[in-house]
Amino acid sequence: VIDVRKLYAEADVFTYDPGFTSTASCESKITYIDGDAGVLLHRGYPIDQLAEKSSFLEVCYLLLHGELPTAAQFEEFDHNITYHTMLHEQFDRFFQGFRRDAHPMAIMVGAVGALSAFYHDSTNIDDPQQRMISAHRMIAKMPTIAARAFKYFRGQPFVHPRNDLSYAENFLRMCFSVPAEDWKPNPVLTRAMDRIFILHADHEQNASTSTVRLAGSSGANPFACIAAGIACLWGPAHGGANEEALNMLAEIGTVDRIPEYVQGVKDRRYRLMGFGHRVYKNYDPRAKVMQQTCHEVLKEVGITNDPLLNVAMELEKVALSDEYFIERKLYPNVDFYSGITLRALGFPPEMFTVLFAVARTVGWIAQWKEMIEDPSQKIGRPRQIYTGAAQRDYSTIDKRG
Ligand code: ACO
Repeated sequence: VIDVRKLYAEADVFTYDPGFTSTASCESKITYIDGDAGVLLHRGYPIDQLAEKSSFLEVCYLLLHGELPTAAQFEEFDHNITYHTMLHEQFDRFFQGFRRDAHPMAIMVGAVGALSAFYHDSTNIDDPQQRMISAHRMIAKMPTIAARAFKYFRGQPFVHPRNDLSYAENFLRMCFSVPAEDWKPNPVLTRAMDRIFILHADHEQNASTSTVRLAGSSGANPFACIAAGIACLWGPAHGGANEEALNMLAEIGTVDRIPEYVQGVKDRRYRLMGFGHRVYKNYDPRAKVMQQTCHEVLKEVGITNDPLLNVAMELEKVALSDEYFIERKLYPNVDFYSGITLRALGFPPEMFTVLFAVARTVGWIAQWKEMIEDPSQKIGRPRQIYTGAAQRDYSTIDKRG
């Protein structure tokens, strides 16, 4: 095996690859994507099988440990997660510092970063046991923080976690129950929420995961690294795309306006949100499961003829038969149908990326852990091609201009 890094260092050369379109930054055993074939595997297991047969918490175990758990291992893991779902009482006071109308993602960036101030022991990243505790804390507390961001945004009282419920049930209850109300889980909607979490759990070296790895490569606190990942996820080209995709469908409004909108895309006035992917040059396998979940949720909540779903399905049909999209291999990604599904579950668009962050936390923390445990890991430090001024002498202010 040629050690390219050594070769390049000795020759004092490096590659110029804006956007890292063809540069691998690490070795990883967690997730495999074949973008041309539309394949996504976690630790070898196809995403559609996991979405159909597994549970989010089981997928969390798989991503962190490399194998599906036995019944005893799962029981222990479930206990480790539920043990950490509560937030410190002072966290509530921290929340009150945000403006009433703060975007829930802005709250997430700040609140998750603040966890590092509550758990000083998490800084000890050289201790494997401590790393695993940080992973458990992160997975356990994300739904609690996300539900609080939602409640705060709505101006409703916080709901504490209930550890006898499943991960998705507990999250939906914290979001949608009012304390006095006798909230009952709906199995179809709970299953849909769990599946949405599975679909977003990890996606190898995407922008936010690479951010987490880069932040972590300096030895930074894991909670601070996850906060960096959340900041990156927020952008409309990444996790913010589901919110933008729903806005786009609403803007199109009716099926007859699709040709005009598509022409605008081809004229490069805007992009089709929820379409295209850096790695997938085929149908995103997550989008297929998401489309099916979308139909199930809409049926369950009694939406029989959703105008936005009609627009989405027709838009997909039009785009997939149009030369512009065919040539560029642009297919729907996971975000194309997720906005409609999440809206039907009762979430406002401002929460869509927050839900993505809840799910992706396990991917971020598993990748962070893998990086810390990799003996060849170095601090991430990209090079640059300098295009600025040549060396010149400083002149005092009275001699300038
Ligand atoms: N609509 C219209 N045209 C597009 C789109 C789109 N959604 N995506 C790419 N293209 C076109 C580009 O204009 C470009 O055309 P050109 O070669 O004629 O100039 C070509 O396809 C390649 O596009 P790039 O921007 O080079 O592709 P890149 O891999 O950098 O971008 C990205 C990937 C950011 C996801 C892009 O497809 C996009 O902006 N999609 C819309 C936003 C979105 O849905 N993001 C979610 C991604 S999935 C996720 O984060 C879970």
